[in-house]
Amino acid sequence: MRTLRQIKNLKGKRVLLRVDFNVPLEKGRVTDDTRIRESLPTIKYLMRKGAIVIAVSHLGRPEGEYDKGYVMDPVARKLQKLLGKKVIKLDDCVGPKVEKAILKAKPGSVFLLENVRFHPGEMKNNKSFSKALAGLADVFISDSFGTAHRTHSSTVGVADYLPAYAGLLMEKEIKALSPLLKKPRSPMAVIIGGAKIDTKIGVIRNFLDTADYILIGGALANTFLAAEGHDIGKSFHEHGRIAVAQDILMEAEKKHAVLLFPEDAIVADEASHYAKAIDLPLEDIEGNMKIFDIGSLTVRKFVSVLKKCKTIVWNGPVGLFEFTPFASGTKAIARTLSGLRGKAKTYIGGGDTVDALYRCGVSPKRFTHVSTGGGAMLEFLEGKVLPGVAVLCK
Ligand code: 3PG
Repeated sequence: MRTLRQIKNLKGKRVLLRVDFNVPLEKGRVTDDTRIRESLPTIKYLMRKGAIVIAVSHLGRPEGEYDKGYVMDPVARKLQKLLGKKVIKLDDCVGPKVEKAILKAKPGSVFLLENVRFHPGEMKNNKSFSKALAGLADVFISDSFGTAHRTHSSTVGVADYLPAYAGLLMEKEIKALSPLLKKPRSPMAVIIGGAKIDTKIGVIRNFLDTADYILIGGALANTFLAAEGHDIGKSFHEHGRIAVAQDILMEAEKKHAVLLFPEDAIVADEASHYAKAIDLPLEDIEGNMKIFDIGSLTVRKFVSVLKKCKTIVWNGPVGLFEFTPFASGTKAIARTLSGLRGKAKTYIGGGDTVDALYRCGVSPKRFTHVSTGGGAMLEFLEGKVLPGVAVLCK
């Protein structure tokens, strides 16, 4: 992978910098600025070298149309605050006005373009849109590991028209996660939670050979429990994916892989802060009951497995942690992993999982690596070559 340090002279060069500033917003304010902070080293490096930084990102999924709920202004304000330097927010990401503003720029200036997904060409990796975006700059730097699994104009297409390099965050992510695909120290555990089987299936499959334990929680576990023939009451699960879960169970058996599922669960009638939650063994779940978290026996079992491990990867909360009655499982895992600092290598990814750490009051600093990628981290760990990384290597 070519990195920005290989670029000889950046003075006065216009750099199109793909960042992943897809951050959560509430009432027009950024509620978690991790992704912005993680891109600061690259932006500061480029400023020091006298480049003109043209940062571009998507925010949400506005589907190729302007949507005032997804304008980049709150992000620009946050970036300016964190950088302590003027950030010029432009109201589009291509076009004559944008070109004119950039042409006048002095070395060391920082621009933030408007949400790139307001243009239909972006997600289609449309050639003329890629060309227009690339036309703003002399060099393309990708610091957006979080979108490296997307074949879009701003992640892949622009590299057809500009020399492409990795930024410092991209480099950090690839360096941190690559050892997991080689020979991680064993015993190794992979904790997979969340809701949807399709986004997690590749990772589970890929780790069937290398992980000593695969711990499954969250609504994802419900689909597996249904596939094993358990009555899960009215719990959310993906009925249409039961066959997929059965395939994985068979594959795991053939490979003698250890897949651990909840043996008991916190159930309630509704997902709310005031729900009357009870902890029940799996065999007692029936009727209208809904599973919202792993039960106390399962917590104990998962924790004792994790304490034996030297490498742990975690993606996806094991319960509906946003609601107090269903946060215990996720909290217990966060605290266990935090307590393993210095004893095991711990890798965490996915917006929800990182959010869970904050809510549990556990500092991300206690882990070996907290990835800025959700889907991207999962696809990387599936062993896939991410298109947004491939363009930095060819
Ligand atoms: C993420 O939040 O995982 C990235 O920003 C990618 O967003 P997307 O799933 O909308 O492409």
